[in-house]
Amino acid sequence: MCGIVGIVSEREVSSTLLDAIKRLEYRGYDSVGMVCIADGVLSTKKDIGKIEEVEKKVNFTALKGTIGMAHSRWATHGGVSKRNAHPHEDCNGNISLVHNGIIENHNELKAELQKKGHHFTSDTDTEVIAHLIEENFTGDILETTRKALCRLEGSYAIGVICTKKDDELIAARKESPLVIGLGERENYIASDIPAILPFTKKIIFLENGEIARLTKEKVEVFDLKGNPVTKTIETIDWGAKQAEKQGYPHFMLKEISEQPTAISDTIGDRMTEHDILLDEEIQKAIPNAAGLKRLIVVACGTSWHAGLIGEFMLEELAKIPTEVEYASEFRYRDPIITEGTAVIAVSQSGETADTIAAIREAKKKGAKVISIVNVEGSTIARESDAVLFTHAGPEIGVASTKAFTAQLTLIYLLTIYLAKKRGLLPQPQISNRIRDIRKIPHQIQEILENQDSIKRLAELFFRHTNALYLGRGINYPIALEGALKLKEVSYLHAEGYPAAEMKHGPIALIDNKMPVVVIATKDNRTYTKVLSNIAEVKARGGIVIAIALKGDKEIEEKVDFVLSIPENSYILTPLLAVIPLQLFAYYVSVLKGKDPDKPVNLAKSVTVE
Ligand code: G6P
Repeated sequence: MCGIVGIVSEREVSSTLLDAIKRLEYRGYDSVGMVCIADGVLSTKKDIGKIEEVEKKVNFTALKGTIGMAHSRWATHGGVSKRNAHPHEDCNGNISLVHNGIIENHNELKAELQKKGHHFTSDTDTEVIAHLIEENFTGDILETTRKALCRLEGSYAIGVICTKKDDELIAARKESPLVIGLGERENYIASDIPAILPFTKKIIFLENGEIARLTKEKVEVFDLKGNPVTKTIETIDWGAKQAEKQGYPHFMLKEISEQPTAISDTIGDRMTEHDILLDEEIQKAIPNAAGLKRLIVVACGTSWHAGLIGEFMLEELAKIPTEVEYASEFRYRDPIITEGTAVIAVSQSGETADTIAAIREAKKKGAKVISIVNVEGSTIARESDAVLFTHAGPEIGVASTKAFTAQLTLIYLLTIYLAKKRGLLPQPQISNRIRDIRKIPHQIQEILENQDSIKRLAELFFRHTNALYLGRGINYPIALEGALKLKEVSYLHAEGYPAAEMKHGPIALIDNKMPVVVIATKDNRTYTKVLSNIAEVKARGGIVIAIALKGDKEIEEKVDFVLSIPENSYILTPLLAVIPLQLFAYYVSVLKGKDPDKPVNLAKSVTVE
């Protein structure tokens, strides 16, 4: 949802800005722009398209100046056009501004400013901020921006530079993410840490309602009343290399391949051979696990699918009634939070606007919030009563892959931890379950090493236009996730369905052109029923691709294609079954000539509601 970066330095900044904004392109790629100030004059270049295309056209690095900002846009207000691309300026070309978020009262402000003679050159909500600052400019850019912000309704992360104070970069945030990076005689702002990781690991997280003045020597932070705020400098332990492709053609493939490491790192020292060590992380939120009466998981997108699998795990092993809610729906109902209810928020970015709003609603109603988050310092992490970090490393591909399996890993550990606290799992069972999850990274590696068969299958199907994904029990959410991956990166229409429900609708769509992907892992619960569902599809001429356990001969006779996964406990099959589906979506996308890292219209982090 729009990426912003800014640098104030003693050296030329345009090439560093370009480098940084490229790392944020996953946040939006409708248009891109850059502004620098040299000799007291603003110079701006911008256009629609991906950074690489626009860079060829406009040559950003020709911009001169030791202070500047860049922006990659995911359009909200105003179509995808050059005039709507950021940065935006005031009437006199003295103030330049980049923005991520939505200014909800922009129409009123625009009318007011137009009456005062301001001339607007875009259809965005953002431009009002530049004119508002111009209208009230006192010579002090920090002070004037602060006052302008007090008039805004909605959400923003902004960067502002001004020719009258060309050694100051102003940054502020409300609801949209923004971090400050501290360098050697230069300082940075960015929507997300990976943008500036190659330059610094020292980060200040700006909070809602804070505004900062950056010069090349120092950073000062104030609240919106103008009072100074003392901030902590955090050191980020991600390596800059982790946010690069490292020889892979796409981030998506790199991140799919990193899952064995992401899972091992997420387990880290949270487990011994016989125990799950989450006391320190969890007890702040749930001192009395035995007293827990109900859990509500809130999340969006792929994280919501992780929540659905979590519901299965938590109910089966920890025997806690669990509901899984779309964060965007939860907050607009009047959710009932009774005593003993805890909320689990699942989010890769920790910045999804609806999930943030959902946890605020839950906290307001008295629930304790545990979050499962990948990005340290993110809003959800900071606002939760307890945080379990997935240590998946930066996830850049828009379609979530490694964050998903890392989330499942943590939910599994949390489940066993709670089951033990509630006296439901005897020691030998805990040890067995620990052994099971330890096997997962190797088993995923095994699937990755056999990905040629998945690629070949993609070659057969990439020209199809529809696909149906079916699963039952704990693998129903994997059907949803498989269909979502295909939709996201290859623009094929795909639907995920509980296998038995197929008979109540989607069966009408099945013909000899419809590939039906069925998760049919052999177990003593739903396998035979799934075989019946497969027979129903075959009877109507459908083409069946089964995700099955290695060595399952029975299934081979009943379906057209089999993708095998190794055997583990039933409750962990989702972590394995999803891998071929991620790879299938990836290869279909590449074969269709699409860019799986930057699917049209999507954004990595949805920071608007
Ligand atoms: C966007 C991304 C998805 C992600 C979802 C939730 O839609 O494209 O990959 O699953 O947001 O994001 P979160 O960061 O909260 O997990």
